[in-house]
Amino acid sequence: MQTETDSHRISTSDDVEVSTYLGIAKELHGEQPVVEPEAMPRGERETIAVIDFGSQYSMLIARRLRECHVYCEIVPYDTPWDKIAPLRPRGFVLSGGPASVHESGSPLAPTYIYEKRLPVMGICYGMHAIAHQLGGRVSPGKKHEYGHAILHLSSEDCPLFAGLPVSLPVWMSHGDQVVEMPPGFKSLAYTENSPLAVIGNGEGIFGLQFHPEVAHTPHGKQIFENFAYRVCGCQGNWTPARFIDESTEKIRQQVGQGRVICALSGGVDSAVTATLIHRAIGDNLTCFFINNGLLRREEPERVLNTFQRNLKMDIAYVDASERFLKRLRGVIDPEKKRNLIGREFIKVFEEAAAKLGKVDFLAQGTVYPDVIESSSGAESKASVKIKSHHNVGGLPSKMKLSLIEPLRYLFKDEVREVGSALGLPEDMIWRQPFPGPGLSIRVIGEVTGERLEVLRAADWIVMNEIKRAKLYRHLWQSFAVLTDVKSVGVKGDYRTYGYLIAVRAINSNDAMTAEWARLPYELLDRISSRIVNEVPNINRVVYDITSKPPATIEWE
Ligand code: XMP
Repeated sequence: MQTETDSHRISTSDDVEVSTYLGIAKELHGEQPVVEPEAMPRGERETIAVIDFGSQYSMLIARRLRECHVYCEIVPYDTPWDKIAPLRPRGFVLSGGPASVHESGSPLAPTYIYEKRLPVMGICYGMHAIAHQLGGRVSPGKKHEYGHAILHLSSEDCPLFAGLPVSLPVWMSHGDQVVEMPPGFKSLAYTENSPLAVIGNGEGIFGLQFHPEVAHTPHGKQIFENFAYRVCGCQGNWTPARFIDESTEKIRQQVGQGRVICALSGGVDSAVTATLIHRAIGDNLTCFFINNGLLRREEPERVLNTFQRNLKMDIAYVDASERFLKRLRGVIDPEKKRNLIGREFIKVFEEAAAKLGKVDFLAQGTVYPDVIESSSGAESKASVKIKSHHNVGGLPSKMKLSLIEPLRYLFKDEVREVGSALGLPEDMIWRQPFPGPGLSIRVIGEVTGERLEVLRAADWIVMNEIKRAKLYRHLWQSFAVLTDVKSVGVKGDYRTYGYLIAVRAINSNDAMTAEWARLPYELLDRISSRIVNEVPNINRVVYDITSKPPATIEWE
């Protein structure tokens, strides 16, 4: 259960904050943001539908298919056909899941899965569902099989196995097991503990007991590629260029002569969103870039340069640093800092937008993991955010904005690929995530202009040294924190009494967990000596060697 104080710690996207403030502001006005039903381009795209039985790996299944350049969407197992039909699926993958087909009310595949005569690949629970529904028998697992196994192929001409060695390592994680195949099915592969590790009916329906989507099944991607290309007949036409063509066309249709606003955060999601929309509708898009005074050194200049000079976009730059700093005066509690910043952001945005006259659409950089998370039955992201920012003011209800979210179905790496194809500079595409409240939560204690400058100077050294060591892209985040600890030091013949800087660098895939990065000692040494020599009032540097959990990534 999430509490009010820890509820801010959900963001994985570097652009979440801006979207959050705007989304919450609308919801507070009793309006649910309207997502245009046709926001996602369809065309003649090849799609595979991933039928989700609640597996922790469903997102990985989707990623593996996308890596094969095949578009896919994850849909709950009880989705009716009329919702799936517009996708014109070429096949289905049935995910694993925590249930057992023996439990009453356990989820089963809808009948259209078998009636449409499209290819189906059931993984683990997905395989059990196929066996159970088509007349086979699944035995309740007396003991669980978990971990590595060796799969031996017993069929030479199975299209799923093209290009695979006859024996390969796979990852198992199951209790139940198919013990009797449905009529018309054949055994295609086995492991020591699973005589029916892969089954198929010769008409495009397969069941796999192991998990091809996880990294522990090294040939997994080949299996997905075989299913998509050889069984479903896809050609792999899901490319950044195609996405750009389709979505600019859709945006044009959706927006018509309307006006769109977009708040840039400096991160990759809002940058790609804005660039894509600009390509579609030109100057009918107005972007706002609000400088809250809590950005890293040279950040505002870099963002403006990229958009105004390189991409020739219309940017309304609002330097609101003084306003934000004034609000933060005397505030020490991190949640209060977040809250004040959220409210002030809405006010500034509202004032800036009001000057534009009538606006029809609000563009946001929502990405697919956000969508999956909020539709997976877990508490919706929007409601989680509201708890943390419940006092945020609102956009004027008369603005009646509809949402445009062109990246709604993209994973982060796809967003980066699209950004690259759109010509965004590398340093923007690969920018590490940066929290919305910015440096305010990296200055422990009161945030003042002076303390921010000290942190900026130290942070600049950390970032440059990490980049020089060519580690910037490999690390999820790396930064400095200005603590409120003072300690004694010596400089020449003098004793000093200065502040302590903490350096944090972590590896992570999603910010939910993180490991402290084993940076080389020489690099840490360079960072430390540069900071104490170049930054005034700092006489000690420590390196944070705590992972998440138990620590969090940010110090506040
Ligand atoms: P924690 O500190 O919770 O951070 O381990 C997880 C990820 O979220 C970022 N973060 C934030 N992002 N607003 C944001 O937009 C926030 O208030 C916030 N707090 C933490 C953090 O940088 C990390 O990527």
